[in-house]
Amino acid sequence: MAEEVVKQNFKENLKAIEYHEELHGILRTLHIYFEITASFIYDVLKSRRFEGKKLLEVGSGATVHSIASASAYFPIIVQSDFVEDNLENLKLWHKGQSPLDWSAFLDIVASLEDFKSDVQEVRAKLESRIRKSVKAIVHCDFLKDGVLKLEEVPAEASPPYDLIIAVQCLEVPCGDLESFVNVLKRLKKLLRKGGGLILSSFHDCEEWEVRKKKFPHLKISLKEIVAALDKAGFGNHDVKRFSPLVTDYNLTYGGYYCIATEAL
Ligand SMILES: C[S@@+](CC[C@H](N)C(=O)[O-])C[C@H]1O[C@@H](n2cnc3c(N)ncnc32)[C@H](O)[C@@H]1O
Repeated sequence: MAEEVVKQNFKENLKAIEYHEELHGILRTLHIYFEITASFIYDVLKSRRFEGKKLLEVGSGATVHSIASASAYFPIIVQSDFVEDNLENLKLWHKGQSPLDWSAFLDIVASLEDFKSDVQEVRAKLESRIRKSVKAIVHCDFLKDGVLKLEEVPAEASPPYDLIIAVQCLEVPCGDLESFVNVLKRLKKLLRKGGGLILSSFHDCEEWEVRKKKFPHLKISLKEIVAALDKAGFGNHDVKRFSPLVTDYNLTYGGYYCIATEAL
C-alpha cells in the first residue's frame, strides 16, 4: 500500500474510541507485553541514562500510559499523533472530560512505582502528575520532514528533546525499510546529541486490526530494526527481545522488542 493511501486509511478509519476498546482486548490476551514495556520504560528512566527536562512521545494515539513513568522525571512532555480524533480525545483526557478510561494500563505503572499502597490512590496521583507534565498535544507525521507541527508546540516545549518515546507506532506507516530508516533519522534530528529514544513493538508483524479494520505494520526483523538504528545515527543500543505468545488474539508476529538507544 502506498504511504499516502496508508495515511488516508488512518485519517478515515482509526477512531480513538474503537482503539481504546481494541487495546483493552489486547491487554486481556497479551497482558505480559504491557507489563514488559512499562517495566522497561520505568527502568530506563530510573537509571537516569537520559536526563533532562523535555520529552516527546510520538504516535501516542489517545493513550497516556507510555509517558506515565516519565512524568516523574520530565517536567515538560509533548504528546503527538497523526490522527486528529486521537489528539482530540487525548486533549479531553487531560481535561478530565474523556470517555476513554486508561486505568487498567496506568495501574501497571502505578504498581511499579508503589506496589504496597492502594493502587487507586497511586493511580490518581499518577494521573495528576501526567496532566501536570504534558504541556502540548500536537500533530505529528513520521513521513514528513520535521515530524511535528512546530507552530503547535509552545516555546518551552520545543525541540531538541532529551528523550523520545515511541510505542508500537514507528513501523506502522512505513512502506519499506528505507522509509523506516528515514523516520528514525527524522526523530534523531529532534533529539539533542546524546538524547535517547525508547522504542518498542511487535517485530515481523505485517498488519493489525481495530474492530476488524486492518492497518499495516512494516514487516521487519529485530536485526533489521537494529541495523536501521545504526544507519540513522543511533548507538549504544540496549535491546530486549521477547517470544511470541500463543493466544486467541488475531495477530501474527515474530516476537516483541524493547530498545533504548542514543543519538550519537
Ligand atoms: C498501534 S497505534 C499505537 C498507539 C499508542 N502508542 C499505543 O501504544 O497504544 C499506532 C499509532 O500510530 C499513529 N500513526 C499512524 N500513522 C502515523 C504517521 N504517519 N505519523 C505518526 N503517527 C502515525 C496512529 O494514529 C496510531 O495512534
